[in-house]
Amino acid sequence: MADRPYTLLSCGISLDGYLDSPATIRLRLSNEADLDRVDAVRASSDAILVGAATIRNDNPRLLVRSPERRHDRVARGLPPSPAKVTVTASGRLDVGGDFFTAGDADKIVYCPRRVADTVRASLDNHATVIDLATPLSMRELSEDLCARGVNRLMVEGGGTLHTQFLTDDLADELQLVIAPLFVGDSRARRFALDGCYPWNSERRAELADVQRIGDVVLLRYALSSRYGTERQDP
Ligand SMILES: NC(=O)c1ccc[n+]([C@@H]2O[C@H](COP(=O)([O-])OP(=O)(O)OC[C@H]3O[C@@H](n4cnc5c(N)ncnc54)[C@H](OP(=O)(O)O)[C@@H]3O)[C@@H](O)[C@H]2O)c1
Repeated sequence: MADRPYTLLSCGISLDGYLDSPATIRLRLSNEADLDRVDAVRASSDAILVGAATIRNDNPRLLVRSPERRHDRVARGLPPSPAKVTVTASGRLDVGGDFFTAGDADKIVYCPRRVADTVRASLDNHATVIDLATPLSMRELSEDLCARGVNRLMVEGGGTLHTQFLTDDLADELQLVIAPLFVGDSRARRFALDGCYPWNSERRAELADVQRIGDVVLLRYALSSRYGTERQDP
């Protein structure tokens, strides 16, 4: 049996490879049709993970938007939306933010052991706080999620998280959307930061599918042998 969830990384980037813009609070990269596709991926997941900086910057709700998909999950004995998961070392999270208040999905916050008491006190029972050893590794986090019944994990960024999953070879699939715009400002966050990646000029990643969705393009990469063996998105 697998010791970590099937892990799908999902993000949108500009033509010059940025996830966001330093000039705007939340840069809109996707279009409506692609957001609906992302909604279907969310609905097929057991948990959605984002970094604490994404919560602070974007205030995401991380809920399944479509009523039909929510009903379908409930009919399968699941909660309407997947569990929301984040990770923080600073504990700087606003319990009044949409991550904690929107919907009634389970919320899980991972943090290093040394700050766990402070994080628990500041979150005041709005989430389950799980402390892990320092430095906190995505492998340990993934294994803990697996032990909690998460078989399919969607990682929605930002770049710090994507980088750790990729460099630690913990990603089974990458869904990368390219939007037809430039950010043109190197203060913006990149999708993948400096690091040693398993895919390089000697070992190229496998491009599994390309899909045009209106004015954006979706690239799907198979990053492990588990790709295609798991339940596929609708
Ligand atoms: N275009 C897209 O699809 C997309 C998707 C998501 C996000 N974004 C953008 O990406 C930007 C944020 O990306 P980012 O790379 O700066 O940040 P991020 O990955 O969202 O979050 C980074 C934060 O997560 C916590 N963290 C990450 N790894 C950790 C570890 N191993 N141990 C403990 N804590 C850890 C830390 O939180 P603390 O600082 O609290 O310690 C760290 O500062 C936002 O501007 C957002 O708009 C874009």
